[in-house]
Amino acid sequence: MKLYMVSLGPGDYELITIKALKALKNSDAICIPTKSADNSFSRSMTYKIVKNLMDEFGFDKPIIPMYTPMRFKEGDWQRQVDIIYDSFKTYETLSFVTLGDSAVYSTVYYLLDIIKKQESKIYEDCEVIPGVTSFSHASAKVKKPLCIGDSSFIIRPLHKRQVPFTTVYMRPKIGMDTSRIKQKHNNLYTFENLNYKGETILDHKKEKVEKYMTLFIDFV
Ligand SMILES: C[S@@+](CC[C@H](N)C(=O)[O-])C[C@H]1O[C@@H](n2cnc3c(N)ncnc32)[C@H](O)[C@@H]1O
Repeated sequence: MKLYMVSLGPGDYELITIKALKALKNSDAICIPTKSADNSFSRSMTYKIVKNLMDEFGFDKPIIPMYTPMRFKEGDWQRQVDIIYDSFKTYETLSFVTLGDSAVYSTVYYLLDIIKKQESKIYEDCEVIPGVTSFSHASAKVKKPLCIGDSSFIIRPLHKRQVPFTTVYMRPKIGMDTSRIKQKHNNLYTFENLNYKGETILDHKKEKVEKYMTLFIDFV
C-alpha cells in the first residue's frame, strides 16, 4: 500500500511538479476532495487540474470523490481517511490531491495525523509531495519578491488575531552560533544541504552552522 499526498500547485496545471505528475501517473486511483455533498466536481479546481493533466499526459485513472465540507471536524477527516482505507481494498497505490502546497493550510496533515495513529505502516510509507503555493504564484504574477535582502515574510490567517506560528530561519552565516534562535515550540528541525551531497535532517537545533545551505524550522 502506497499513499501519495500530492500538491497540485495554485491552479495552473502547468505549475505542478514532475514528481507530483509521476505520482499521479503511478497511482491506481486518485482521491479528489469536493465541497459538494453530491460528490460532483462541477466547481472543483482540483478536479480540473487532474483532468487537464490526464488529458495532456495521456493517462486515465479512476477518481474517488472525498466529500470535504470545510467544517474542521474530526469526524469529517475520519470519514475521508476511511475512504482511503476502503480504497486500499481495491487499489495498491493511491494519491490524495490538494491545492497549492500541502505544507500550507491543507487537509493533508489532518488526515495524516489520524492515519499516523491508526495505520502507522501506511503513514510511514506515505510520501508528501510539495508544490507551488498560491502566494509564490501571486508574487511571480506581479514580479514582486516576498522577501529580499534583509526583509522577512509572514503568513497570517485572517480569521483570528492571535495564533501560534511556525518560523523558518534562513540565510545563516557559516560558523554562526545558533543560541540566538529562541525555540518556541518543541518541534525545531535543522535541514542541511537538502538534495545536495551530505543532506542531513536533524530533529533538533544544530549548535553551530556548518553549511550555508541550512534551514531551521520551528514547527508550530
Ligand atoms: C486552505 S488555504 C490553502 C493554501 C494552499 N495550500 C497554498 O499552498 O496556497 C486557502 C487560502 O489560500 C489562498 N489561495 C489559494 N488559492 C488561491 C488563489 N487561486 N487565488 C488567491 N488566493 C488563493 C486564499 O487565501 C485561500 O483562502
